[in-house]
Amino acid sequence: MAYSEKVIDHYSNPKNVGTLDKASKNVGTGLVGAPECGDVMRLQIQVDDATGVITDAKFKTFGCGSAIASSSLATEWLKGKTVDQAMAIDNMDLVEELNLPPVKIHCSVLAEDAIKAAINDYRVKNGLEALVFEEKG
Ligand code: FES
Ligand code: FES
Repeated sequence: MAYSEKVIDHYSNPKNVGTLDKASKNVGTGLVGAPECGDVMRLQIQVDDATGVITDAKFKTFGCGSAIASSSLATEWLKGKTVDQAMAIDNMDLVEELNLPPVKIHCSVLAEDAIKAAINDYRVKNGLEALVFEEKG
């Protein structure tokens, strides 16, 4: 199977690989796994309390090229968005941007799930209720 140029670009030069301080109440951490293949993704957001804007995002993905590319692209998209806007990121937007083939759609679902898990972690840390999301993965 051929990877698209954008996947190869994100895979060979991933953006925002790293770790944010999990203990900070401004940081939300999402850790998700794909039952299809056992790949694991951790995605973190740092939120400015006053504005609700995501000021930083980092990821670590132990998985395939498409999962790494999806999480790299997701972190780029997250920065500068509000938490509400981040919630609207759909895995199919990642699929479209990266030109993922059908067998790799679950890799992008992993990224969407990780975003939502990170948002919920941030919410719960700050005394808000966790949101209930429709399970895609
Ligand atoms: Fe997970 Fe591709 S099947 S690495
Ligand atoms: Fe499983 Fe990509 S995350 S093959």
